[in-house]
Amino acid sequence: MLRLEDADVFYGKAQALGGVSIEVREGEVVGLVGRNGAGKSTILKTLMGLLTPTRGRRIHKGEDITSLPPQKISRRGVAFVPENRQIFPNLTVEENLRLAGVMHKPGFWTYDRACGLFPRLRERARSNGSSLSGGEQQMLSIARALMTNPTVLMLDEPSEGLAPLVVRDVRDAIVEIHRQGMAILLVEQKVAIPMSIGQRIYVVDHGTVGWSGTTAEFAADRAAIENKLAI
Ligand SMILES: Nc1ncnc2c1ncn2[C@@H]1O[C@H](COP(=O)(O)OP(=O)(O)OP(=O)(O)O)[C@@H](O)[C@H]1O
Ligand SMILES: [Mg+2]
Repeated sequence: MLRLEDADVFYGKAQALGGVSIEVREGEVVGLVGRNGAGKSTILKTLMGLLTPTRGRRIHKGEDITSLPPQKISRRGVAFVPENRQIFPNLTVEENLRLAGVMHKPGFWTYDRACGLFPRLRERARSNGSSLSGGEQQMLSIARALMTNPTVLMLDEPSEGLAPLVVRDVRDAIVEIHRQGMAILLVEQKVAIPMSIGQRIYVVDHGTVGWSGTTAEFAADRAAIENKLAI
């Protein structure tokens, strides 16, 4: 579905990724975990086209998309919910959502279904993006990505900075999105959520993949993996 193949990525002269290969298959929830600065966000940005690898390729549904810009990758069905959420502060919740659907193929996820997933967004439909709480912003950011009806959804630390009850809502929403058939690449610093809802896990360590396997394999070897990779 979506794959990074042996990718090197630099910020200027500083190398952030070295020979990273990861993939998300159809209908999978894949966790990408690792400590601060390991390279998790860089992997998502590279898959989205915001960064270009100096070596290696990105592939979507078997096609090489290494040279495509983010807008074209988005139109092919890859969606990205960045860490900083990037909602439009001067547009209402409803405007943020409807705008996201423009230029994309219609599909299962409509305005009503997105608000069904996050009822709070319907209550806040006429509020400006700037007035939302952190949890509401995260919900809007995820709902906005859904409005593009992607085939793969990439989420960068969706639970970060949220109260435990809101974390639960966001986690439940991810489970529901997956149940509707979406492939999901989920970045988290901690492994708890990917372990409970995912099928496979990659541990990113100093710009490389330090470990990968199924969640069951991770669970069986958890202490050793966490110890070795300091997560
Ligand atoms: N815009 C940038 N310019 C220069 N270096 C960067 C930039 N963004 C990230 N880096 C560096 O690249 C490396 C990987 O960063 P990245 O943001 O991918 O890590 P991360 O795993 O997402 O960490 P976190 O859990 O803190 O979000 C780090 O060493 C970081 O300092
Ligand atoms: Mg990050």
